[in-house]
Amino acid sequence: RLLIIDFGSQVTQLIARRLRELNVYCEIHPYQKVTDAFLKEFAPKAVIFSGGPDSVTREGSPRPPKAVYDLGVPILGICYGQQVMMQDLGGRVVGGEGTSEFGRAYVTPEPDRIDLLQGWFMDGSGREQVWMSHGDHVADLAPGFKVFGTSPGAPYAITADLDRRFYAVQFHPEVHHTPNGKTLYENFVKDAGFTGDWTMGAYREEAIRKIREQVGDAKVICALSGGVDSSVAAVLLHEAIGDQLTCVFVDHGLLRMNEATEVVTMFREHYNLPLIHADESALFLGKLDGVSDPETKRKIIGGLFIEVFQKYADQIEGAEFLAQGTLYPDVIESVSFSGGPSVTIKSHHNVGGLPEKMGLKLVEPLRELFKDEVRVLGHELGLPASFIGRHPFPGPGLAIRCPGEITREKLEILRKADAVYIDQIRKHGLYDEIWQAFVAILPVRTVGVMGDGRTYDFACALRAVTSVDGMTADYYPFTHEFLGETATRIINEVKGINRVTYDVTSKPPGTIEWE
Ligand code: XMP
Repeated sequence: RLLIIDFGSQVTQLIARRLRELNVYCEIHPYQKVTDAFLKEFAPKAVIFSGGPDSVTREGSPRPPKAVYDLGVPILGICYGQQVMMQDLGGRVVGGEGTSEFGRAYVTPEPDRIDLLQGWFMDGSGREQVWMSHGDHVADLAPGFKVFGTSPGAPYAITADLDRRFYAVQFHPEVHHTPNGKTLYENFVKDAGFTGDWTMGAYREEAIRKIREQVGDAKVICALSGGVDSSVAAVLLHEAIGDQLTCVFVDHGLLRMNEATEVVTMFREHYNLPLIHADESALFLGKLDGVSDPETKRKIIGGLFIEVFQKYADQIEGAEFLAQGTLYPDVIESVSFSGGPSVTIKSHHNVGGLPEKMGLKLVEPLRELFKDEVRVLGHELGLPASFIGRHPFPGPGLAIRCPGEITREKLEILRKADAVYIDQIRKHGLYDEIWQAFVAILPVRTVGVMGDGRTYDFACALRAVTSVDGMTADYYPFTHEFLGETATRIINEVKGINRVTYDVTSKPPGTIEWE
């Protein structure tokens, strides 16, 4: 297995993801935890130092234990990880004005070749696009190191000590903006002797082992929403700890048409999961009455969610853990890492607003995964393909698709319009091509004419996006015929809507949801 030592970069999880794509098993551990004893016990076949927000020029900045350099295994240092390696091994790093570089850059090769770069510089341009994000840079190489690639802002962009198989790069090969980054990881793991035989099946076993280790004999309640994430988490937990798990399905009254019945039936009858159907719609809708500010809505829903859980947890004797299907993108969009002040875009209720006083510990078995990986895991666990392929649905549900005040009337209209829209998408065979599709009901009434009469009803917006992980998205290019047909159906079939618009905003600058 491969060890990733995390120095706090925002993109450390992407390194793990790239390695999983190469079927290599890896674990991320924060640098504080990686001691000499830890290294001995872990016995990594290769080590990667992640990037990080600190400066190695600062006294007391994060370091790996020196023993890591004596393991005799390949090490790859990335960005901060490169600088750590250089300084630890006798090189020199400088910071301050004029040494920073952010964004796209191009590296060109030096005359010496290196296996790490097999497949690089091949497109005829003689250079490779990479993503830089650094404040300091290496000024003098450590003894034994040579330069294999340079960029205008980083004369030591790619360096290595070939004898010891230590590689150190200034850029981030794990991000999309380093298009050939995956090849670099591929070469690195090959050099370390990995054969790429690890699978999601192995991840499942490992996840089950970790859940058992974390939970012990305690009871767990799981927030089952019926979405792919919480469903996969619930089934995984059930496999790990059986009836120590109780699922609570909180019906906040903000679900889609027939959703509650479908979820309850599926998990009780087909999966035999112990499931409580908590119909708390009156409570949620009551508290949301008259509220129109998006963040306030989210906070109310998030807060109530936890309260409701607390209530059910209290009824389950010995419940110590709350399980959630939090994914990695939720984590990075919601929290700031390593004390760095990063902006909260939206407070996702599954991580944001969790009160410290809550008497339950969290178990989040999907915290390291991206959506598409969760689907693979769901498949591995035997969940039906139609279910795994379902579009994501946000925790706050229809509340964030109903900008402005939420009323039962609007929710009813929205449910009907959404059902027609999704039906249209399925009928046209487009469901699986689209990452997420839904209707938002707009807080505006417009004038229309139907038959011989004037109407004054709500307008709605259709949303459909393509995406890989929800972090960026593009609107789906429906044909005009499809849009026209769908608009006609919605207006004919849904009383209360007389105007349909299509949202053609990508993310960024928009978000996928309307609130
Ligand atoms: P945005 O609107 O932020 O959404 O571009 C990205 C993805 O996240 C979903 N989403 C949420 N999921 N709790 C969730 O579990 C939330 O509070 C939440 N807000 C947005 C959204 O549906 C999309 O898939």
